Amino acid sequence: MFQTMSAPNIDTIVSLAKRRGFVFPSSEIYGGLGSAWDYGPLGVELSNNIKQSWWRWLVYERDDIEGIDSSIILNRLVWKYSGHEETFNDPLVDCRDCKFRMRADKIEGKCTNCGSTNLTEPRNFNMMLRTLLGAAAEEDDPFALAYLRPETAQGIFINFLNVQIAMRRKLPFGIAQIGKSFRNEITPGNFILRTREFEQMEMEYFVRPDAEHWKLVDEWVELYVGWFKSLGISGENLQLHEVPKTELAHYSSRTVDIMYRYFPERAEEERQWEELMGIAYRTDFDLRTHSSKATDAEGNRANPDSTEDLSFFDEAAKQRFYPHVIEPAAGVNRTVLAVLMDAYSERTNDKGETRVILKLSPQLAPIKAAILPLAKNKPEIVGMAKAIKRSLQPVLRAVYDDTGGIGKLYARQDEIGTPLCVTVDHQSLEDEAVTVRDRDTWEQERVKVTELAEYLQRRLKAAAPVPPVADTPSLDI
Ligand code: GAP
Repeated sequence: MFQTMSAPNIDTIVSLAKRRGFVFPSSEIYGGLGSAWDYGPLGVELSNNIKQSWWRWLVYERDDIEGIDSSIILNRLVWKYSGHEETFNDPLVDCRDCKFRMRADKIEGKCTNCGSTNLTEPRNFNMMLRTLLGAAAEEDDPFALAYLRPETAQGIFINFLNVQIAMRRKLPFGIAQIGKSFRNEITPGNFILRTREFEQMEMEYFVRPDAEHWKLVDEWVELYVGWFKSLGISGENLQLHEVPKTELAHYSSRTVDIMYRYFPERAEEERQWEELMGIAYRTDFDLRTHSSKATDAEGNRANPDSTEDLSFFDEAAKQRFYPHVIEPAAGVNRTVLAVLMDAYSERTNDKGETRVILKLSPQLAPIKAAILPLAKNKPEIVGMAKAIKRSLQPVLRAVYDDTGGIGKLYARQDEIGTPLCVTVDHQSLEDEAVTVRDRDTWEQERVKVTELAEYLQRRLKAAAPVPPVADTPSLDI
């Protein structure tokens, strides 16, 4: 019987993640680095599986989205015209008593370290991480200054025309990208929820200026809720948040955040929820600001540095305009954390022992099947188990494990979310059959080795929910 149906708090996942090789504190042998985390053998698989699911869902299964991979370091002018140099700030305050530094908008007038109200006035702190380019760069050389991107989105906007022309696209169409972003967060924390280096899955969906932008935001919200559910996240742990006008980013005229219940241990009124992703209507702000011909309110050229005009000519309507953008922007790391928290469960066996079972959706499970020999001192059984592992590997991620008794081996696979275990026993040598055990029901079935690959694939497919498919416009190129 399952006692716990999702993780009681983030700390439970921090400890499981380290113990079982999902996520380790980074630079730990030198005392760590505050907010940096390293993905271990199982974490990298889980994170890759999430990214693959997203890429398949948007780039492969739809007909209106292209993928790209742009640079992390861009010309500094990108960040001047995107508005990030001027406005990508967080309000910073210092506690005069304990010298602790924190974000003014995340506290209620009190130091989060010592409780003092003796705080400095808030001042703006730009969150872009700086670096210097070139071998001869001096510390304060403004020509050498460059930034590590704080969002992947700008790499998409500056490539809008390249992609549109190369792929002969008409509106509407989208450009998707997965990659690292960097923010010098004032108060990183809560494991992989807020870090200075993180990964984003962003998509910019370009539409006509007269499209129904508000409706499109709602549609993308609904699609993403469906996608998160297909990853195994329960709808009860998801919530929508319409961002108030006063809190919108400088480029957005509407943003809806999809929130996840990362803090179930807190009382309802104490912020149980934190942003998992946001869906923003960015208007034509970005394409216009990077365009050579766009003008400001006084009719002056707004961007004298750009050499390209990122407008679109609609052949049918004989109109030129700057496309508007709907942007669903999700975090890989926050998705990893939400998936782990939601998959966490505990179950007590007949002997009263409590076991952790990670009920990961089969598509996300780092290992799909573990091949376990019942007796590791019997060469024929070991040989048969290893041969089965090798034969399965081309069709699904399988591992061989003989580092404990069968009970321990099952428990270990349950804890890392392996959906199916295959046990090779003495009988297998006679009847060329193995026992397949289900992670969630602990039920066992005998399967012929010759039918095993097909059987496992069928079981995994049947247990994996399918993400929602949107009607996509027909290709007209
Ligand atoms: N291009 C729009 C944009 O970057 P955002 O809401 O600032 O929007 C999108 O970021 C997503 O990136 C967030 O919803 C979150 O999942 C993730 N993210 C942002 N900052 C993060 C951080 N410091 N650590 C981990 N993930 C972060």
